[in-house]
Amino acid sequence: MSKIIINGNKELTGEVKISGAKNSAVALIPAAILARNKSIIYNVPEISDIDYLLNIMELLNCKIEHKNDSLIIDSSNIINKPIPEELSVQMRASYYFMGVLLAKFGKVEISFPGGCNIGARPIDIHIKGFEELGAKVEIVKNRYTITAEELKGKKIYFDFPSVGATINIMLAAVGAKGTTIIENAATEPEIVNVASFLINMGVKIRGAGTKTIEIEGTKELDNGVCEVFPDRIESGTYIIIGALLGKDLKIKGIIKEHIEALLMKLEEIGIKYKIENDTLTISKCDNIKSTYIKTLVFPGFPTDLQQPMTTLLTQAHGKSIIEETLYENRFKNTYDLNRMGAVTNVLSLNKLEIKGPRKLKGTKVIATDLRGGASLLIAGLIAEGTTEIENSEYILRGYGNVIGKLKSIGADVEICE
Ligand code: UD1
Repeated sequence: MSKIIINGNKELTGEVKISGAKNSAVALIPAAILARNKSIIYNVPEISDIDYLLNIMELLNCKIEHKNDSLIIDSSNIINKPIPEELSVQMRASYYFMGVLLAKFGKVEISFPGGCNIGARPIDIHIKGFEELGAKVEIVKNRYTITAEELKGKKIYFDFPSVGATINIMLAAVGAKGTTIIENAATEPEIVNVASFLINMGVKIRGAGTKTIEIEGTKELDNGVCEVFPDRIESGTYIIIGALLGKDLKIKGIIKEHIEALLMKLEEIGIKYKIENDTLTISKCDNIKSTYIKTLVFPGFPTDLQQPMTTLLTQAHGKSIIEETLYENRFKNTYDLNRMGAVTNVLSLNKLEIKGPRKLKGTKVIATDLRGGASLLIAGLIAEGTTEIENSEYILRGYGNVIGKLKSIGADVEICE
């Protein structure tokens, strides 16, 4: 159990560099199993979800070498083994072993994935997709055995453009005979990142980043090289921090097109920033306006920035409304925000009201999930006095070197076990 302690209300200045995207990296690492022998993945973030994933890679006999922020993965001696529940429940992304092991061996045995408790998070779209490709899925008490003598490419329609299902079916389709077409695919940047890696290995993929993706099954794959895109959610989190406490705070590693929904919302509520090349500069805004936000799939406002944004809106003038359309349990952070002095009301399962501006005061709080933890971290940074965040492991799952980065720009923040 670790605890983050923050003495708040410090001006933040200097430069912070954004790490590689968690949700890309957690798919790229299992995807390396499909490569002929070795893969190199650059710009891998230093987060605990990656460590959990590498435990599974090592169980499957992959050799992992770390070089600064790169990973060299040698999968030439891979062995297909059942993945024990205690490993698969450590993170959501363990579900990507379904797609890759099915493509490579035609068999996988794994448990229902873990991840933050922000809703039911079913994986029925993944399973339906595997079945449409010809796999047999047996589920006994959360344990999935998926087998296929031969996967056959097919046109598949997704009832919802799920990020995880799009990547998982893309991975499985590599091992299928013929062409797979995913209709109503997710268009998040992470999908483009994974597709580029597979293309680099020699797979023919068209349309990644659009609603229709076409994958040609390929048996002869090459070695793979790729770079993890900068994390758009980490970028957004530091931009929000800059809007609350920055003095010409520079955030390096910005891809504007990945965070357009956030940037436009910030402009709408009076927050100014400047972007030059890949660096965004932002200062504290003293007159933030209230707003209405609805979380949507990309390119809509990302659900993963909803909780950090809630903290920002506690400082906005007037009443804001957030409508969360992706998850049914993503307002748990508001309990502690209110204990710090915020005024938020959960109006219904997916609607939150925030009244501002309210001065926040440091106190003892508990992170209940990754982005909820980030919301409390931001609250601690703007609060008067000391905030102690228990269960801060959640935050470390998705924010690389968060303490070092915040300290380097002037925050008074420590972590203790
Ligand atoms: C991924 C991200 C997560 C992010 C989310 C939405 C990873 C490892 N995690 O999660 O950080 O919050 O995208 O941007 O990349 N759904 C179903 N059935 C399915 C799959 C999904 O009903 O088979 C529903 C989910 O319950 C949820 C919505 O679809 O309501 C979005 O899920 P999805 O896009 O699949 O997100 P995750 O892969 O869980």
